[in-house]
Amino acid sequence: MSERTGEPAIRAKGVRVSRGGREVLHGLDLEVAAGSVIGLMGPSGCGKTTLMRSIVGVQRIDSGELTVLGRSPSDPAVRHEIGYVTQAVSVYGDLSVRANAAYFAALQGSSRADADEAIATVGLADLADRPVDRLSGGQASRASLACALVGLPRLLVLDEPTVGLDPVTREDIWTHLRSLAEQGVTLLVSSHVMDEAARCDSVLLMREGDLLAHLTPAELLERAGTTNAEDAFLTLIREGGER
Ligand SMILES: Nc1ncnc2c1ncn2[C@@H]1O[C@H](COP(=O)(O)OP(=O)(O)O)[C@@H](O)[C@H]1O
Ligand SMILES: [Mg+2]
Repeated sequence: MSERTGEPAIRAKGVRVSRGGREVLHGLDLEVAAGSVIGLMGPSGCGKTTLMRSIVGVQRIDSGELTVLGRSPSDPAVRHEIGYVTQAVSVYGDLSVRANAAYFAALQGSSRADADEAIATVGLADLADRPVDRLSGGQASRASLACALVGLPRLLVLDEPTVGLDPVTREDIWTHLRSLAEQGVTLLVSSHVMDEAARCDSVLLMREGDLLAHLTPAELLERAGTTNAEDAFLTLIREGGER
């Protein structure tokens, strides 16, 4: 399902961001279609988290234009339409899955029923009363995801949601993400595991604060002349360094 208006979900023009007195995003231009799964890939430290923080409105931008769902990311109206799952687990370990989701629901002005629905969406209904500390890593990741879903976001920003998880659990998380996309949610998902690119509709490839390419997984492999996503990224990242 695509957006009625056809407006891009995310649009950046010349976005520059500094952290700790140093510029870490050097004038990014990008446009992301609504209703798709976009991978944000690149080596550690290239600026993925900083770009995500900018998109969800918690990072000051030095210059440039950034619109999210057609508005400024700092617009309170748009904040309610964005779900954000940070890189570090952001749920309370001593609280149950349900208590965590209910807390996020209260913050978002959503109901307890929305919280329960989000828990069901990520397949944790049977474990809803268990403290997060007593869940596996994959289950805890899904609990974080449930908390981001309680506000029924149109855009879901997930920072390395599968890092450190085993292949089966990764598969499971991706199945949940795919089903959200089918319901019309736009997903921006970062990863430094390059083979996850194949699961996305398109991929943004970053290197040292610049955007090297925005392409489909098939284009990525074609351009690099390989069938292996890992090799393709290394090729494009090296090419980028020669520019
Ligand atoms: N709180 C911070 N203060 C200063 N510099 C930071 C801070 N967080 C990140 N950086 C720097 O910003 C750059 C981009 O970091 P980040 O966006 O976290 O990259 P990634 O998510 O791709 O690993 C890195 O050089 C990093 O050292
Ligand atoms: Mg990061």
